[in-house]
Amino acid sequence: MSREPAASSASSAPQGRSGTGVSSQGQPPGYAPVSPAVPAVSVRGLTKNYDSGFRALDGVDLEIHSGEIFALLGPNGAGKTTLISIVCGIVTPGEGIVEVDGYDIGRDWRVTRSRIGLVPQELSTDSFETVWATVSFSRGLFGKAPDPAHIERVLRDLSLWDKRNNQLRTLSGGMKRRVLIAKALAHEPRVLFLDEPTAGVDVELRRDMWALVRSLRAHGVTIILTTHYIEEAEEMADRVGVIHAGRIVLVEDKAALMHKLGRKQLTLHLQQPLERVPEQLAEHELELAADGHALVYTFATQGERTGVTRLLHDLAAAGIRFHDLQTEQSTLEDIFVDLVREQEQ
Ligand SMILES: Nc1ncnc2c1ncn2[C@@H]1O[C@H](COP(=O)(O)OP(=O)(O)O)[C@@H](O)[C@H]1O
Ligand SMILES: [Mg+2]
Repeated sequence: MSREPAASSASSAPQGRSGTGVSSQGQPPGYAPVSPAVPAVSVRGLTKNYDSGFRALDGVDLEIHSGEIFALLGPNGAGKTTLISIVCGIVTPGEGIVEVDGYDIGRDWRVTRSRIGLVPQELSTDSFETVWATVSFSRGLFGKAPDPAHIERVLRDLSLWDKRNNQLRTLSGGMKRRVLIAKALAHEPRVLFLDEPTAGVDVELRRDMWALVRSLRAHGVTIILTTHYIEEAEEMADRVGVIHAGRIVLVEDKAALMHKLGRKQLTLHLQQPLERVPEQLAEHELELAADGHALVYTFATQGERTGVTRLLHDLAAAGIRFHDLQTEQSTLEDIFVDLVREQEQ
């Protein structure tokens, strides 16, 4: 971790533009909401080419609403960490505009960084420092005055209070991750990024983390998390964005997305091949597969009625017999593939 002298940020108090400048003084736990009209994060036409020449981001446009929980979904290598790292000032951007609460991450970097907290994907906390010192120091880095009461609250929320005098290197992996979260919250960020927060963590930490995320949101903090677990997005997010190969493929309300995702396919392997789907089965919108040896029925798992019973009844009535059947639920991978294919058409 780079240790900027804490004094360097002493002059970084935002010269608040009207409506966006937030003072934490006098606020309950310091999480005062900003004007919802200003997006918490606004990214426009952002590209990133790594030195290798690899284009990790390819014209990303994304707007995160103030106070929402936004899940950024994408397979490995999609560009999630790159995007987050740029917003957080860790990776230099290419072309494009990135703003946090209306402030430019280049021009107004002191302001934007002090408003952002990042829980990184990788663990790299092996120091001799104590939990308390590390978390308090982290607050100082952003030019915030010491606030032991806030640090205590954060440590208690993360069940780290008993460990406050322990050296980081003596902690378990799960505890270290809790420390990373505590560090990210030490300076009372307005926008919190969690990069794959639950990859490989135990159930208890996962539960605590989501409880904390919800309580932060209740205090007006905007949360952006990356994940490739669809269940996680389903459980937590207000909106979901899908990124693939450095492009945002879709941004949608969770409910709408889950409706799209919750599909199953029933494949019936026929005793006799068909040349076409018979007229009397038209309403089921079946597809022929395997050179007419299989019929595929796609249905929403959300609906109360799947239509499977009627389908089987109608098949029998049409004299179509099958010797085997299988069902498949669309996986996130399928959904990515579908989304990308739709995009390319
Ligand atoms: N420092 C780097 N130099 C070159 N390529 C990189 C670097 N960091 C990431 N990449 C590449 O950029 C792509 C996006 O990576 P990343 O943003 O980490 O994706 P994600 O977090 O979605 O898995 C990947 O193909 C990765 O290999
Ligand atoms: Mg990543």
